[in-house]
Amino acid sequence: MNSIKQIPKAEIHVHLEATISPDLCRKLAKRNNVDLSEDLFAGQYVYAWEDFYDFLKQYDIITSVIHTPDDYRELTYNYLKKCAADHVIYVEAMISSTHAKLQGMTYNSFLEGVIEGANQAREEFGIVSKYIMNGIRHLGPDSVFQTAEEVLNNPHFDLVGFGLAGDELHFPAKLFTKTFDILKKENFPITIHAGEWDGPQSIRDAINLLHAKRLGHGVRCIEDPDLVEELRNSDIVLETCPTSNVATKIYPSYEGHPVKELFNQGLKITVNSDDPPFFNATIGGEYEVMANLGLSEDELKSLTRNAIKYAFCDQHTKSKLLKKI
Ligand code: ADE
Ligand code: ZN
Repeated sequence: MNSIKQIPKAEIHVHLEATISPDLCRKLAKRNNVDLSEDLFAGQYVYAWEDFYDFLKQYDIITSVIHTPDDYRELTYNYLKKCAADHVIYVEAMISSTHAKLQGMTYNSFLEGVIEGANQAREEFGIVSKYIMNGIRHLGPDSVFQTAEEVLNNPHFDLVGFGLAGDELHFPAKLFTKTFDILKKENFPITIHAGEWDGPQSIRDAINLLHAKRLGHGVRCIEDPDLVEELRNSDIVLETCPTSNVATKIYPSYEGHPVKELFNQGLKITVNSDDPPFFNATIGGEYEVMANLGLSEDELKSLTRNAIKYAFCDQHTKSKLLKKI
């Protein structure tokens, strides 16, 4: 096999705010007068956390150093630069206006910062990126509704979808139907984190109640063979994040993770880094994981093809990207 590094890659499940490197985190903390404890940098991973719920808490603390549109520009540019060095041709990143507004930015100013970084990276490295706005489950239905309203009222060519992240177990799909019915009515593409911290029913609800076209993780469908069969026969793609799931101890190891089995059963699989420094993950590393689990070079390329085929961007962009694989 050629070096895995050379394989054209794509990533469609990464939380932009969570890509922040420790250097940028420290720099922004200093510039924005945020007092961060050194303990935050002293764990097994780049940022310290104890379990999934503590991870969600530390995530908010670390990302609270991002205060201005220019911070967002730098964050976006830095991540895309790293991806381009790993031969990533396309990134569809989740962003959070909720986080940005908590730090005093407006919806439009933060989005402009992201897009400026994206344009800069595209011009310098040729990497294409689009964005998905996330609602956050554990902030409740009103917060997610307001986020969706703002997205629908401010269309942007590079903002191509709406996602739902956060605490899947305690904030089930049925709480959010109003928001996702409206998004569906407007034909706005939807991806839902489901089948990560909750099981097959959460996946069924994401599809049937929230109209998900893609599943963030989705891997716990393995617990229900009928659901696996339904997904195999559907057009729904799984945004799997093996390193994230091993780090948060949903599965004990890569060998114990269902991604290879789901791939073998013919589900539409992509691999993704989720929250890279929180799990010491990279998108290139996820392709390595799949190679170690036995995927051939052609099969690794099929992961990239799936990511682009099921991306939420326009057809013209997809056609150009598919020619690069
Ligand atoms: N937000 C950021 N990362 C997440 C994950 N892995 N699951 C749910 N919400 C998240
Ligand atoms: Zn995620």
